[in-house]
Amino acid sequence: MAIAPNRLLIDLGDFVPGLGKPAEIKLGLYTTALPAMGYDVVGVGELDVRTIKDTRKSPFEQAKIPQICANLVYEDTKKPLLKKPYFIKKMPSGLRVAVIGIMGNMTMNPQLAKQNGIIVLPPGETVRKTIDSLKGKADLFVVLAHSGYEEAKKLAADVPGIDIVLSSHPSTVNTDFERVGNTILMHCKGNSKYVGKLVLNIDSEGKIASAVGTEDLLDAKMEKDAKMQKLIDDAEAAVQEFYNSSNPHVGGPPAPGMPPSQSEPGAFVGAQRCIGCHLSIHQTWQKTKHAQAFDDMKKKDPNATMNPNCLSCHTTGYMMNGGYTTETATPYLRDVGCESCHGPGVRHLRTPSDKGYGATTELTCRKCHDGTNSPKFDYAKYLDKIAHKSTSQIVKPPESP
Ligand code: HEC
Ligand code: HEC
Ligand code: HEC
Ligand code: HEC
Repeated sequence: MAIAPNRLLIDLGDFVPGLGKPAEIKLGLYTTALPAMGYDVVGVGELDVRTIKDTRKSPFEQAKIPQICANLVYEDTKKPLLKKPYFIKKMPSGLRVAVIGIMGNMTMNPQLAKQNGIIVLPPGETVRKTIDSLKGKADLFVVLAHSGYEEAKKLAADVPGIDIVLSSHPSTVNTDFERVGNTILMHCKGNSKYVGKLVLNIDSEGKIASAVGTEDLLDAKMEKDAKMQKLIDDAEAAVQEFYNSSNPHVGGPPAPGMPPSQSEPGAFVGAQRCIGCHLSIHQTWQKTKHAQAFDDMKKKDPNATMNPNCLSCHTTGYMMNGGYTTETATPYLRDVGCESCHGPGVRHLRTPSDKGYGATTELTCRKCHDGTNSPKFDYAKYLDKIAHKSTSQIVKPPESP
């Protein structure tokens, strides 16, 4: 694809799909591929916040691509999550384009923010202040709104001076391009399946004379780039190697079909092993969709039982030590069992009265209930449907568990 000289390449964020090694590998792919393709600037998605917070820096720092966000600050220090709130590019034509990053309240809702130790400053007010501070330093103002469509539209309507709002995060709306007053709004589809293109005609005063926005589907018809294909193949091979090498059972595998023994640290034991002391919780769980997640997956696609991209969410402990490997080796770990949310249970079985096993947060759910597979996910509502909170249900452990 020919790239015009006066161009800006942007990604709106959500680079860390889930947790663990495979997510790390995928992030590595983005931080290598984006600079190789000449990306100018990237935004931040709610999925990226944890990684940034844990390392206290943008994963794109080494790649020298600015990752921008103007309205996320640490709750404790009140310092910004990312060093750069905005980015200005001077085009060969002389036009100066300011790009401002924003996180929405819908995507980073108060509960998720609290769990991350983050405060979301009001998006509209933040953009207004940032534009004011850049008067005379830029000719065109672009806002990257990781907020979903509705909030982005409101931003476009409410804040004067924005020329373009690019919004991201899965959404039910299917508009690509529209005008909200004098502002252009483009909602970008996710999952790296599309590339949005906004072509602007700039008049002699540096204002947008006309604009055309389209989204191109990245399907098999798209010409492949050998260098990119190699990066993708390498990343996929690394994920596969991780799956193959991750020792399914620390201390040696149990007999086929048998849960691991209690001496194996970190191992998953299966929901069956919880019945003895949490009978009524087990009965409640059995009535939830989680208890039929494997069969439902299989019904929809018989090949799914071989597909890491399905098993990671429809089994227990997949790609973790002592977690699900295959249907015959680990039948007790089919489905979304207790340990999918509470973590490996071996130690808890040994010392059940030790406090602190199995703490959960909204992120526990979000590793599976992501924007693609569970677009309607609402923590409070979903929690309600699977609720089994009642300490009184716990039966006293027998003499020798
Ligand atoms: C031998 C009995 C026994 C078995 C088996 C058992 N538990 Fe427990 N569990 C307990 C007891 C007792 C407590 C209460 C600990 C306390 O708060 O004092 C508990 C507490 C918990 C808690 C709350 C922990 C906390 O600190 O609030 C979770 C979560 C839990 N169990 C999950 C499981 C899961 C999942 C399994 C199966 C892998 C399981 N338990 C198997 C006895 C058992
Ligand atoms: C390991 C992945 C995984 C985790 C973790 C997970 N879920 Fe799920 N959840 C699923 C899958 C897969 C289904 C679909 C099962 C099916 O329909 O067969 C599902 C379905 C559900 C449903 C049923 C939705 C409906 O339409 O009836 C609810 C409610 C739900 N999950 C709530 C939660 C909550 C709340 C959490 C966190 C406390 C959570 N889940 C954690 C994978 C997961
Ligand atoms: C990132 C986690 C994740 C992955 C990967 C995933 N699922 Fe799911 N799946 C879910 C969750 C969560 C739900 C429940 C969604 C809800 O009700 O909100 C679900 C629901 C389902 C359902 C029941 C609802 C429906 O659409 O009929 C089926 C069947 C299903 N998934 C099959 C698959 C298959 C096949 C694959 C692999 C191609 C797959 N899933 C990959 C998390 C995942
Ligand atoms: C989809 C995720 C999920 C699954 C699957 C799940 N739990 Fe839980 N569990 C939770 C959440 C979330 C809480 C906290 C509930 C709350 O705060 O309202 C919880 C709480 C608990 C508690 C503490 C109850 C209390 O009174 O504090 C126990 C014990 C427990 N679960 C055991 C189990 C057992 C046993 C299973 C399997 C039979 C199981 N859980 C399956 C998410 C899950």
